Amino acid sequence: MCGIVGYVGDRLGVPIALKCLSALEYRGYDSAGVAYIDNGKIYTEKRVGKLVNLYNSLKNKIIPSSCAIGHTRWATHGEPNKNNAHPQTDCNGILAVVHNGIIENFDSIKQDLIAKGVKFNSDTDTEVFAQLLAYNLCAKLMHNTMHNTAHNTIKFSKKTIIKALNKTIQQCEGAYAVAIVVAGIDDCIFFAKNKSPLIIGKGEEESYLASDTPALLGFANKFYSIKDGELGYIEKNKIVVFNDNLENVKIKFQQITIKTEQVMLGEFKHFMHKEIEQGASSIIETIDRIKKLKVLQKIPPKIFEDKFNLHITACGTALHAGLIAKYIIENQLRVPVDLDYASEFRYKKPILDAHSVCLFISQSGETADTLSCVELAKQKGATTIAFTNVPASRMESIVDFVVPTGAGPEIAVASTKAYLAQLAALYAFIEYLAIILKKEIKFNCGMIKNLALKYSHQDYTKVLDDIVEEIKNEESIYFIGRGVDYLLALEGALKLKEISYIHCEALPAGELKHGSLALINNNSFVVAVLTQSNLIEKTLNNIHELNSRGAKVILISPFTNLENFVYKQIYIPNVNDLLTPFVAMKPLQTLAYKVSISKNLDPDKPRNLAKSVTVE
Ligand code: G6P
Repeated sequence: MCGIVGYVGDRLGVPIALKCLSALEYRGYDSAGVAYIDNGKIYTEKRVGKLVNLYNSLKNKIIPSSCAIGHTRWATHGEPNKNNAHPQTDCNGILAVVHNGIIENFDSIKQDLIAKGVKFNSDTDTEVFAQLLAYNLCAKLMHNTMHNTAHNTIKFSKKTIIKALNKTIQQCEGAYAVAIVVAGIDDCIFFAKNKSPLIIGKGEEESYLASDTPALLGFANKFYSIKDGELGYIEKNKIVVFNDNLENVKIKFQQITIKTEQVMLGEFKHFMHKEIEQGASSIIETIDRIKKLKVLQKIPPKIFEDKFNLHITACGTALHAGLIAKYIIENQLRVPVDLDYASEFRYKKPILDAHSVCLFISQSGETADTLSCVELAKQKGATTIAFTNVPASRMESIVDFVVPTGAGPEIAVASTKAYLAQLAALYAFIEYLAIILKKEIKFNCGMIKNLALKYSHQDYTKVLDDIVEEIKNEESIYFIGRGVDYLLALEGALKLKEISYIHCEALPAGELKHGSLALINNNSFVVAVLTQSNLIEKTLNNIHELNSRGAKVILISPFTNLENFVYKQIYIPNVNDLLTPFVAMKPLQTLAYKVSISKNLDPDKPRNLAKSVTVE
């Protein structure tokens, strides 16, 4: 989490840094800050809260600097106050650092520096990095017997800075992407990266750093995804990258085109609303892209011979998409699938070997837990396949095969269209697997595309109005379903809880009576998902159990003649049982969105959450 940017070129750097940061705010909005160099001196400006506070404090100032770094924070070390906001500087004002990640051994380094007389001003691990780098720079200086000079007036050479930076990153354990400006060097930004994402962008006569490519939309069109252990610097017309042995790395830029309207609100008030409406086009674009690029055909059929075993690993919404894939693979292909939360998988000593095929699902391709699982699977000799949405992400660069999802940039923290794109990509994979395994399945990608086209205009905003008013002040809402419907209920509950702050819990409908029914009374609201034709009676029984305890059941279902048994029914299209996830999610997402706005919350930026979780 945390977003970082850097600009060096001929234009005013601070407004550009602010603009790029606005596309990274999904990564955290506890505080924001910039540092820039003017006549060799470093200046910083920081504000607590969303980026708009920083923007307002700077909007009437013209800052004549063409070199700036910026940061939007999701607090990990130290509360979200001004002292802990980035950029962090060393006590002599030699340099300023913006950082995304966690320096795990920050405390021992800090104690060591304090013992050497360094004064700290914040609780952050980032300040430790800044102070250590400055210390390493100055230690060199002392060695050269120049210690009588005021530190912040000394001009260090780039070579000296790179050496000190390399030493610093060798001393730091953990994840980091850092951008650094150094006093006396007006038109240069230094960087280093390990595990947290960092991209170099190239424009005409200007260079950029950013946590992701969409942040540089409209500014750069050529990108390089910096690899772990690399460090270097950017100038307006020069990019220098070293490996950890300080040997020059020849980099190859990748051309990525993102259209402006993809990251603009357009006619919508919130990105979440726009992205819910883009669900159908995400499905279609994903299938088209997979077919056009023939990505599945690159996965060799021989990995699915003999003793192959399948694993799915992901976090959050991506895991919910994976649950549906597991269900369909087991149900249709009769192939067992292991599925784990990435944060659990990495510590459970998973049983993996060269016969394992591991599927990793990640919108960002940068989620720290999922990335660690990729590394683990690779060490064990497994085949790794990533389903990712962000081009040039770290996950794409380390897996054996990539199946891209075509959702386009997803800005709202709560994932909506990316979930549908992940499902489309996973179904396409299942179709391919069925061909290899010579098994029959009752769907194909053409059917999914047709369904997305046919129902793309389905609108639930009006029909949900009354329900939203009734449930918005609830403390707790239950979601139930069986089979695929339970998996949809899980995602529906996650959506509502993360942006409305109502406690939501999804349960397999049959499990209700093993505990949670004790909490149901005549004030309870329960959302029941019922899309599976073979489960109508079973789920209906559970609805009766809820009715007997006075609960108000909101039913999401295509089936008729059920309305009399529930408080309210939201009708969805009646489609092939295996394809219901493609039509049942929209009302659940819309419900969450509408409850959030009816409570005057910001659905795009829920408290305490970030879109891309690049720390463990
Ligand atoms: C965070 C986001 C979720 C996302 C999850 C996994 O929790 O808020 O929307 O589903 O991370 O992210 P990934 O990028 O790996 O899909």
